[in-house]
Amino acid sequence: MTRHITRILGSTALSALLALPALADSAPPLATLPPPPVPADNPMSEEKVELGEKLFWDGRLSGNGSMPCSACHLPDLGWGTGGAISFGYPGTQHWRNSQTILNSAYYDKLFWEGSATSLESQAKGAAGGAVAGNGDGSMMEMRLRFVPEYVAAFKDVFGTEWPQVAHAWDAIAAYERTIVTDATKVPFDRYLAGDTDAMSDAAKRGMELFNGKAGCISCHNGALASDQKFYDIGVPAAEEFEVDPLYQITLRWELYQKGVTEELYRKGDDDLGLYHVTKRPDDKGKFRTPSLRELRWTEPYMHNGALWSLADVVDFYDAGGGEGQTAGLQPLGLGDGEKADLVAFLEALSMEEPMLAEAPDLPETATWSEFLK
Ligand code: HEC
Ligand code: HEC
Repeated sequence: MTRHITRILGSTALSALLALPALADSAPPLATLPPPPVPADNPMSEEKVELGEKLFWDGRLSGNGSMPCSACHLPDLGWGTGGAISFGYPGTQHWRNSQTILNSAYYDKLFWEGSATSLESQAKGAAGGAVAGNGDGSMMEMRLRFVPEYVAAFKDVFGTEWPQVAHAWDAIAAYERTIVTDATKVPFDRYLAGDTDAMSDAAKRGMELFNGKAGCISCHNGALASDQKFYDIGVPAAEEFEVDPLYQITLRWELYQKGVTEELYRKGDDDLGLYHVTKRPDDKGKFRTPSLRELRWTEPYMHNGALWSLADVVDFYDAGGGEGQTAGLQPLGLGDGEKADLVAFLEALSMEEPMLAEAPDLPETATWSEFLK
Protein backbone atom coordinates (compact mmCIF):
# COMPACT_ATOMS: atom_id res chain seq x y z
CA MET A 1 0.00 0.00 0.00
CA THR A 2 2.68 2.49 1.03
CA ARG A 3 4.74 1.65 -2.01
CA HIS A 4 1.69 2.12 -4.18
CA ILE A 5 1.02 5.59 -2.75
CA THR A 6 4.71 6.48 -3.16
CA ARG A 7 4.45 5.64 -6.80
CA ILE A 8 1.47 7.96 -7.18
CA LEU A 9 2.64 10.88 -5.10
CA GLY A 10 6.42 10.64 -5.10
CA SER A 11 8.38 10.23 -1.90
CA THR A 12 8.42 13.91 -0.84
CA ALA A 13 4.65 14.13 -1.04
CA LEU A 14 4.31 10.89 0.88
CA SER A 15 6.50 12.02 3.72
CA ALA A 16 4.54 15.27 3.80
CA LEU A 17 1.27 13.36 4.03
CA LEU A 18 2.50 10.96 6.67
CA ALA A 19 3.91 13.76 8.79
CA LEU A 20 0.50 15.29 9.39
CA PRO A 21 -0.50 15.06 13.03
CA ALA A 22 -4.06 16.30 12.47
CA LEU A 23 -4.72 13.58 9.90
CA ALA A 24 -3.84 11.11 12.57
CA ASP A 25 -6.54 12.84 14.62
CA SER A 26 -8.96 11.65 11.96
CA ALA A 27 -10.16 14.87 10.33
CA PRO A 28 -11.06 13.83 6.77
CA PRO A 29 -8.09 14.84 4.58
CA LEU A 30 -8.41 17.45 1.84
CA ALA A 31 -9.32 15.71 -1.40
CA THR A 32 -10.40 16.39 -4.96
CA LEU A 33 -14.07 17.29 -5.28
CA PRO A 34 -16.31 14.60 -6.78
CA PRO A 35 -19.13 15.75 -9.10
CA PRO A 36 -21.68 17.64 -6.98
CA PRO A 37 -24.64 15.74 -5.53
CA VAL A 38 -27.93 16.10 -7.41
CA PRO A 39 -31.26 15.71 -5.53
CA ALA A 40 -33.53 12.96 -6.86
CA ASP A 41 -36.43 15.37 -7.39
CA ASN A 42 -34.44 17.81 -9.52
CA PRO A 43 -32.42 15.78 -12.04
CA MET A 44 -30.00 17.58 -14.35
CA SER A 45 -30.52 18.11 -18.06
CA GLU A 46 -28.83 20.37 -20.55
CA GLU A 47 -32.07 22.24 -21.28
CA LYS A 48 -32.73 22.81 -17.59
CA VAL A 49 -29.24 24.21 -17.03
CA GLU A 50 -29.62 26.51 -20.04
CA LEU A 51 -32.94 27.81 -18.71
CA GLY A 52 -31.42 28.19 -15.23
CA GLU A 53 -28.56 30.21 -16.65
CA LYS A 54 -30.97 32.70 -18.24
CA LEU A 55 -33.04 32.94 -15.07
CA PHE A 56 -29.91 33.53 -12.97
CA TRP A 57 -29.27 36.65 -15.08
CA ASP A 58 -32.88 37.75 -15.42
CA GLY A 59 -34.15 40.70 -13.36
CA ARG A 60 -37.73 39.50 -13.87
CA LEU A 61 -36.98 37.34 -10.83
CA SER A 62 -36.74 40.31 -8.46
CA GLY A 63 -39.04 43.05 -7.22
CA ASN A 64 -38.46 45.98 -9.58
CA GLY A 65 -36.66 43.97 -12.26
CA SER A 66 -33.18 45.30 -11.44
CA MET A 67 -31.79 42.61 -9.11
CA PRO A 68 -31.19 39.26 -10.77
CA CYS A 69 -28.97 36.77 -8.94
CA SER A 70 -26.08 37.93 -11.10
CA ALA A 71 -26.34 41.49 -9.69
CA CYS A 72 -24.68 40.27 -6.48
CA HIS A 73 -22.94 37.15 -7.81
CA LEU A 74 -20.79 38.59 -10.56
CA PRO A 75 -18.54 36.10 -12.36
CA ASP A 76 -15.79 38.75 -12.70
CA LEU A 77 -15.82 39.29 -8.94
CA GLY A 78 -15.53 35.65 -7.91
CA TRP A 79 -19.34 35.27 -8.25
CA GLY A 80 -19.79 37.68 -5.34
CA THR A 81 -19.81 41.50 -5.21
CA GLY A 82 -16.13 42.03 -4.44
CA GLY A 83 -17.00 44.36 -1.54
CA ALA A 84 -16.97 43.73 2.20
CA ILE A 85 -20.74 43.97 2.70
CA SER A 86 -22.97 43.29 -0.29
CA PHE A 87 -25.13 46.07 -1.61
CA GLY A 88 -28.84 45.45 -1.27
CA TYR A 89 -32.10 45.81 -3.17
CA PRO A 90 -32.39 49.44 -4.39
CA GLY A 91 -32.94 51.73 -1.42
CA THR A 92 -31.73 49.11 1.04
CA GLN A 93 -28.40 47.79 2.20
CA HIS A 94 -27.46 44.13 2.73
CA TRP A 95 -25.82 43.19 6.00
CA ARG A 96 -23.44 40.39 5.01
CA ASN A 97 -20.66 39.62 2.60
CA SER A 98 -22.01 38.15 -0.62
CA GLN A 99 -20.90 34.53 -0.75
CA THR A 100 -19.53 33.06 -3.92
CA ILE A 101 -21.84 30.58 -5.62
CA LEU A 102 -18.79 28.69 -6.90
CA ASN A 103 -19.07 25.24 -5.35
CA SER A 104 -22.20 26.16 -3.38
CA ALA A 105 -23.56 22.92 -4.89
CA TYR A 106 -21.55 20.97 -2.30
CA TYR A 107 -22.92 22.49 0.90
CA ASP A 108 -25.83 20.94 2.67
CA LYS A 109 -26.40 24.15 4.65
CA LEU A 110 -26.35 27.44 2.81
CA PHE A 111 -25.84 31.05 3.92
CA TRP A 112 -23.33 32.14 6.52
CA GLU A 113 -25.65 30.89 9.26
CA GLY A 114 -26.67 27.74 7.37
CA SER A 115 -30.35 28.63 7.29
CA ALA A 116 -31.19 27.09 3.86
CA THR A 117 -30.82 23.38 3.22
CA SER A 118 -30.97 23.19 -0.58
CA LEU A 119 -30.01 25.36 -3.52
CA GLU A 120 -33.65 25.25 -4.58
CA SER A 121 -34.97 26.75 -1.33
CA GLN A 122 -31.99 29.11 -1.15
CA ALA A 123 -32.82 30.59 -4.58
CA LYS A 124 -36.40 31.18 -3.52
CA GLY A 125 -35.19 32.90 -0.34
CA ALA A 126 -32.71 35.07 -2.25
CA ALA A 127 -35.18 36.25 -4.89
CA GLY A 128 -37.80 37.04 -2.23
CA GLY A 129 -35.49 38.37 0.52
CA ALA A 130 -36.23 42.02 1.30
CA VAL A 131 -32.60 43.21 1.07
CA ALA A 132 -31.75 40.91 -1.89
CA GLY A 133 -34.24 40.31 -4.72
CA ASN A 134 -37.36 41.59 -2.90
CA GLY A 135 -39.59 39.83 -5.42
CA ASP A 136 -43.15 38.61 -4.88
CA GLY A 137 -43.65 34.96 -5.95
CA SER A 138 -46.84 35.41 -7.96
CA MET A 139 -45.63 38.63 -9.59
CA MET A 140 -42.40 36.92 -10.71
CA GLU A 141 -44.37 33.93 -11.97
CA MET A 142 -46.68 36.17 -14.03
CA ARG A 143 -43.69 37.92 -15.59
CA LEU A 144 -42.31 34.56 -16.77
CA ARG A 145 -45.70 33.67 -18.26
CA PHE A 146 -45.55 36.76 -20.49
CA VAL A 147 -42.32 35.56 -22.15
CA PRO A 148 -43.07 33.16 -25.02
CA GLU A 149 -39.55 31.69 -25.01
CA TYR A 150 -39.85 30.89 -21.29
CA VAL A 151 -43.32 29.42 -21.74
CA ALA A 152 -41.88 27.01 -24.32
CA ALA A 153 -38.75 26.25 -22.28
CA PHE A 154 -40.64 25.56 -19.01
CA LYS A 155 -43.04 23.31 -20.91
CA ASP A 156 -40.17 21.46 -22.49
CA VAL A 157 -38.19 21.04 -19.23
CA PHE A 158 -40.97 20.67 -16.66
CA GLY A 159 -43.97 19.64 -18.77
CA THR A 160 -46.27 22.40 -17.47
CA GLU A 161 -48.61 24.48 -19.59
CA TRP A 162 -47.39 27.73 -17.92
CA PRO A 163 -44.13 28.53 -16.09
CA GLN A 164 -44.37 27.94 -12.35
CA VAL A 165 -42.07 30.00 -10.19
CA ALA A 166 -41.02 26.95 -8.08
CA HIS A 167 -39.58 25.44 -11.26
CA ALA A 168 -37.52 28.59 -11.78
CA TRP A 169 -35.70 27.81 -8.52
CA ASP A 170 -35.14 24.23 -9.69
CA ALA A 171 -33.61 25.46 -12.95
CA ILE A 172 -31.39 28.00 -11.22
CA ALA A 173 -30.20 25.32 -8.78
CA ALA A 174 -29.35 23.02 -11.71
CA TYR A 175 -27.34 25.85 -13.29
CA GLU A 176 -25.50 26.46 -10.01
CA ARG A 177 -24.54 22.77 -9.94
CA THR A 178 -22.44 23.48 -13.04
CA ILE A 179 -20.56 26.41 -11.44
CA VAL A 180 -17.97 24.23 -9.77
CA THR A 181 -14.20 23.95 -9.62
CA ASP A 182 -12.43 22.26 -12.52
CA ALA A 183 -9.84 20.10 -10.72
CA THR A 184 -7.54 19.97 -13.74
CA LYS A 185 -6.91 23.69 -13.22
CA VAL A 186 -6.13 23.48 -9.50
CA PRO A 187 -2.46 22.98 -8.53
CA PHE A 188 -3.40 21.08 -5.35
CA ASP A 189 -5.70 18.66 -7.20
CA ARG A 190 -3.11 18.04 -9.89
CA TYR A 191 -0.57 17.36 -7.15
CA LEU A 192 -2.95 14.84 -5.55
CA ALA A 193 -3.40 13.22 -8.95
CA GLY A 194 0.33 12.53 -9.03
CA ASP A 195 1.92 15.62 -10.58
CA THR A 196 4.40 16.37 -7.82
CA ASP A 197 5.58 19.54 -9.56
CA ALA A 198 2.10 21.05 -9.67
CA MET A 199 2.61 22.84 -6.33
CA SER A 200 5.58 25.06 -5.44
CA ASP A 201 7.85 24.06 -2.56
CA ALA A 202 6.36 26.93 -0.56
CA ALA A 203 2.84 25.55 -1.12
CA LYS A 204 4.00 22.05 -0.11
CA ARG A 205 5.45 23.43 3.13
CA GLY A 206 2.21 25.41 3.58
CA MET A 207 0.23 22.18 3.21
CA GLU A 208 2.23 20.62 6.06
CA LEU A 209 1.48 23.63 8.25
CA PHE A 210 -2.21 23.52 7.25
CA ASN A 211 -2.47 19.88 8.24
CA GLY A 212 -0.14 20.16 11.22
CA LYS A 213 1.12 23.09 13.30
CA ALA A 214 -1.50 25.61 12.09
CA GLY A 215 -4.38 23.18 12.70
CA CYS A 216 -6.55 24.50 9.85
CA ILE A 217 -7.52 20.96 8.85
CA SER A 218 -9.53 20.46 12.03
CA CYS A 219 -12.32 22.63 10.56
CA HIS A 220 -11.39 23.13 6.90
CA ASN A 221 -11.37 19.47 5.89
CA GLY A 222 -12.63 17.03 3.28
CA ALA A 223 -12.90 17.79 -0.44
CA LEU A 224 -14.63 21.14 0.13
CA ALA A 225 -12.18 22.19 2.86
CA SER A 226 -15.15 22.75 5.14
CA ASP A 227 -16.63 20.60 7.91
CA GLN A 228 -19.91 22.56 7.43
CA LYS A 229 -20.04 23.16 11.18
CA PHE A 230 -20.39 26.49 12.97
CA TYR A 231 -17.85 28.37 15.11
CA ASP A 232 -17.28 31.79 16.58
CA ILE A 233 -13.72 32.59 15.59
CA GLY A 234 -14.03 36.22 16.74
CA VAL A 235 -14.14 38.06 13.41
CA PRO A 236 -14.21 41.78 14.33
CA ALA A 237 -17.43 43.71 13.62
CA ALA A 238 -17.51 45.58 10.32
CA GLU A 239 -16.90 49.32 10.68
CA GLU A 240 -19.70 50.12 8.25
CA PHE A 241 -22.28 49.32 10.94
CA GLU A 242 -20.83 51.98 13.22
CA VAL A 243 -20.54 54.76 10.71
CA ASP A 244 -23.43 54.34 8.26
CA PRO A 245 -27.02 54.66 9.50
CA LEU A 246 -28.41 52.55 6.64
CA TYR A 247 -26.20 49.61 7.67
CA GLN A 248 -27.23 50.09 11.28
CA ILE A 249 -30.91 50.17 10.32
CA THR A 250 -30.53 46.94 8.30
CA LEU A 251 -28.76 45.21 11.14
CA ARG A 252 -31.50 46.16 13.62
CA TRP A 253 -34.19 45.20 11.12
CA GLU A 254 -32.57 41.79 10.54
CA LEU A 255 -32.32 41.25 14.29
CA TYR A 256 -35.95 42.28 14.67
CA GLN A 257 -37.40 40.13 11.93
CA LYS A 258 -35.30 37.14 12.96
CA GLY A 259 -36.85 37.51 16.39
CA VAL A 260 -34.32 38.54 19.05
CA THR A 261 -35.13 39.81 22.53
CA GLU A 262 -35.91 43.48 23.07
CA GLU A 263 -32.57 43.92 24.81
CA LEU A 264 -30.55 42.47 21.94
CA TYR A 265 -32.54 44.51 19.48
CA ARG A 266 -31.83 47.74 21.35
CA LYS A 267 -28.12 46.92 21.53
CA GLY A 268 -28.18 45.80 17.91
CA ASP A 269 -24.48 45.98 17.08
CA ASP A 270 -23.61 42.43 16.10
CA ASP A 271 -24.56 39.79 13.56
CA LEU A 272 -25.47 36.83 15.78
CA GLY A 273 -25.01 34.19 13.08
CA LEU A 274 -26.22 30.69 13.94
CA TYR A 275 -28.13 32.06 16.95
CA HIS A 276 -30.68 33.48 14.51
CA VAL A 277 -31.50 29.92 13.48
CA THR A 278 -31.31 28.07 16.81
CA LYS A 279 -31.89 30.83 19.42
CA ARG A 280 -29.37 29.06 21.64
CA PRO A 281 -27.22 31.62 23.51
CA ASP A 282 -24.11 29.46 22.89
CA ASP A 283 -24.56 29.89 19.16
CA LYS A 284 -24.13 33.68 19.14
CA GLY A 285 -21.48 34.75 16.64
CA LYS A 286 -21.08 31.31 15.07
CA PHE A 287 -20.84 31.09 11.29
CA ARG A 288 -20.52 28.14 8.94
CA THR A 289 -16.96 27.13 8.12
CA PRO A 290 -16.56 28.25 4.49
CA SER A 291 -14.81 26.27 1.79
CA LEU A 292 -11.23 27.34 1.11
CA ARG A 293 -11.44 26.58 -2.58
CA GLU A 294 -11.21 29.46 -5.09
CA LEU A 295 -10.07 32.00 -2.46
CA ARG A 296 -7.83 33.70 -5.03
CA TRP A 297 -10.95 34.99 -6.76
CA THR A 298 -13.31 35.64 -3.84
CA GLU A 299 -11.80 38.29 -1.56
CA PRO A 300 -12.63 39.90 0.82
CA TYR A 301 -13.15 37.18 3.40
CA MET A 302 -15.42 36.28 6.33
CA HIS A 303 -19.17 36.84 6.87
CA ASN A 304 -18.70 40.61 6.89
CA GLY A 305 -15.71 40.87 4.55
CA ALA A 306 -13.57 42.12 7.44
CA LEU A 307 -10.31 40.64 6.11
CA TRP A 308 -9.06 41.77 2.72
CA SER A 309 -6.19 39.43 1.93
CA LEU A 310 -5.07 35.89 2.65
CA ALA A 311 -2.06 37.36 4.46
CA ASP A 312 -4.53 39.19 6.76
CA VAL A 313 -6.40 35.91 7.33
CA VAL A 314 -3.21 34.08 8.26
CA ASP A 315 -2.19 36.90 10.64
CA PHE A 316 -5.66 36.70 12.20
CA TYR A 317 -5.29 32.97 12.92
CA ASP A 318 -1.64 33.38 13.97
CA ALA A 319 -2.87 35.71 16.72
CA GLY A 320 -5.27 32.98 17.93
CA GLY A 321 -8.36 34.37 16.18
CA GLY A 322 -10.30 37.44 17.29
CA GLU A 323 -11.54 38.76 20.60
CA GLY A 324 -14.18 36.62 22.27
CA GLN A 325 -13.70 33.59 20.01
CA THR A 326 -15.07 30.36 21.45
CA ALA A 327 -13.66 28.01 18.79
CA GLY A 328 -10.64 26.94 20.84
CA LEU A 329 -8.15 28.71 18.57
CA GLN A 330 -4.66 29.19 20.00
CA PRO A 331 -1.89 31.60 18.92
CA LEU A 332 0.17 29.69 16.34
CA GLY A 333 3.61 31.31 16.63
CA LEU A 334 4.23 31.19 12.88
CA GLY A 335 7.35 32.87 11.47
CA ASP A 336 7.12 35.18 8.43
CA GLY A 337 8.32 32.41 6.11
CA GLU A 338 5.72 30.01 7.47
CA LYS A 339 2.97 32.57 7.00
CA ALA A 340 3.98 33.06 3.38
CA ASP A 341 4.04 29.27 2.89
CA LEU A 342 0.53 28.95 4.29
CA VAL A 343 -0.72 31.68 1.93
CA ALA A 344 0.99 29.88 -0.99
CA PHE A 345 -0.88 26.70 -0.09
CA LEU A 346 -4.24 28.50 0.19
CA GLU A 347 -3.62 29.95 -3.28
CA ALA A 348 -2.84 26.47 -4.61
CA LEU A 349 -6.43 25.46 -3.74
CA SER A 350 -7.77 27.81 -6.44
CA MET A 351 -8.01 27.39 -10.18
CA GLU A 352 -5.20 29.16 -12.00
CA GLU A 353 -7.74 31.16 -13.98
CA PRO A 354 -10.99 32.49 -12.54
CA MET A 355 -14.16 30.86 -13.84
CA LEU A 356 -15.86 33.52 -15.94
CA ALA A 357 -19.19 33.63 -17.76
CA GLU A 358 -20.86 35.98 -20.19
CA ALA A 359 -24.37 37.25 -19.59
CA PRO A 360 -26.71 35.24 -21.84
CA ASP A 361 -29.19 36.92 -24.21
CA LEU A 362 -32.50 37.25 -22.41
CA PRO A 363 -35.82 36.58 -24.14
CA GLU A 364 -38.33 39.35 -24.83
CA THR A 365 -41.66 39.84 -23.13
CA ALA A 366 -44.58 39.28 -25.53
CA THR A 367 -46.18 42.32 -27.09
CA TRP A 368 -49.92 42.72 -26.48
CA SER A 369 -50.83 41.59 -29.96
CA GLU A 370 -48.68 38.44 -29.60
CA PHE A 371 -50.15 37.77 -26.21
CA LEU A 372 -53.75 38.11 -27.33
CA LYS A 373 -53.28 35.68 -30.22
C1 HEC B 1 -28.70 41.95 -3.28
C2 HEC B 1 -27.64 41.00 -3.46
C3 HEC B 1 -27.99 39.56 -3.74
C4 HEC B 1 -28.88 39.05 -4.66
C5 HEC B 1 -29.79 39.79 -5.61
C6 HEC B 1 -28.75 37.61 -4.58
N1 HEC B 1 -27.81 37.26 -3.63
FE1 HEC B 1 -27.18 35.39 -3.20
N2 HEC B 1 -26.18 36.11 -1.59
C7 HEC B 1 -26.03 37.43 -1.28
C8 HEC B 1 -25.48 37.55 0.06
C9 HEC B 1 -25.13 38.85 0.76
C10 HEC B 1 -25.31 36.23 0.54
C11 HEC B 1 -24.92 35.81 1.97
C12 HEC B 1 -26.18 36.05 2.78
C13 HEC B 1 -26.29 35.43 4.16
O1 HEC B 1 -25.50 34.59 4.55
O2 HEC B 1 -27.23 35.81 4.89
C14 HEC B 1 -25.75 35.34 -0.52
C15 HEC B 1 -25.71 33.95 -0.47
C16 HEC B 1 -26.03 33.12 -1.54
C17 HEC B 1 -25.80 31.69 -1.58
C18 HEC B 1 -25.19 30.84 -0.47
C19 HEC B 1 -23.80 30.37 -0.76
C20 HEC B 1 -23.21 29.59 0.39
O3 HEC B 1 -22.01 29.33 0.38
O4 HEC B 1 -23.94 29.22 1.34
C21 HEC B 1 -26.26 31.24 -2.79
C22 HEC B 1 -26.24 29.81 -3.32
C23 HEC B 1 -26.81 32.38 -3.49
N3 HEC B 1 -26.63 33.51 -2.70
C24 HEC B 1 -27.49 32.33 -4.69
C25 HEC B 1 -28.31 33.36 -5.14
C26 HEC B 1 -29.33 33.20 -6.16
C27 HEC B 1 -29.66 31.91 -6.88
C28 HEC B 1 -29.91 34.43 -6.34
C29 HEC B 1 -31.05 34.79 -7.27
C30 HEC B 1 -32.30 34.09 -7.09
C31 HEC B 1 -29.22 35.34 -5.43
N4 HEC B 1 -28.29 34.66 -4.71
C32 HEC B 1 -29.50 36.72 -5.33
C33 HEC B 1 -26.38 38.50 -2.08
C34 HEC B 1 -27.34 38.42 -3.09
C1 HEC C 1 -12.38 26.12 14.69
C2 HEC C 1 -12.60 25.97 13.28
C3 HEC C 1 -11.64 26.68 12.34
C4 HEC C 1 -10.27 26.56 12.27
C5 HEC C 1 -9.34 25.73 13.15
C6 HEC C 1 -9.86 27.38 11.16
N1 HEC C 1 -10.94 27.99 10.58
FE1 HEC C 1 -10.92 29.22 8.97
N2 HEC C 1 -12.90 29.62 9.26
C7 HEC C 1 -13.71 29.05 10.20
C8 HEC C 1 -14.99 29.74 10.24
C9 HEC C 1 -16.17 29.39 11.13
C10 HEC C 1 -14.91 30.77 9.29
C11 HEC C 1 -15.99 31.84 8.99
C12 HEC C 1 -15.99 32.83 10.14
C13 HEC C 1 -16.80 34.09 9.95
O1 HEC C 1 -17.09 34.50 8.82
O2 HEC C 1 -17.15 34.70 10.99
C14 HEC C 1 -13.58 30.66 8.68
C15 HEC C 1 -13.14 31.45 7.63
C16 HEC C 1 -11.92 31.29 6.99
C17 HEC C 1 -11.53 31.98 5.76
C18 HEC C 1 -12.41 32.94 4.97
C19 HEC C 1 -13.01 32.23 3.77
C20 HEC C 1 -14.05 33.05 3.03
O3 HEC C 1 -14.46 32.61 1.95
O4 HEC C 1 -14.49 34.10 3.51
C21 HEC C 1 -10.25 31.58 5.47
C22 HEC C 1 -9.42 32.01 4.27
C23 HEC C 1 -9.84 30.64 6.51
N3 HEC C 1 -10.88 30.49 7.40
C24 HEC C 1 -8.61 30.02 6.56
C25 HEC C 1 -8.18 29.27 7.66
C26 HEC C 1 -6.80 28.89 7.88
C27 HEC C 1 -5.65 29.22 6.95
C28 HEC C 1 -6.78 28.20 9.07
C29 HEC C 1 -5.57 27.66 9.79
C30 HEC C 1 -4.57 28.67 10.17
C31 HEC C 1 -8.14 28.16 9.58
N4 HEC C 1 -8.95 28.83 8.70
C32 HEC C 1 -8.53 27.54 10.76
C33 HEC C 1 -13.36 27.98 11.02
C34 HEC C 1 -12.05 27.58 11.28
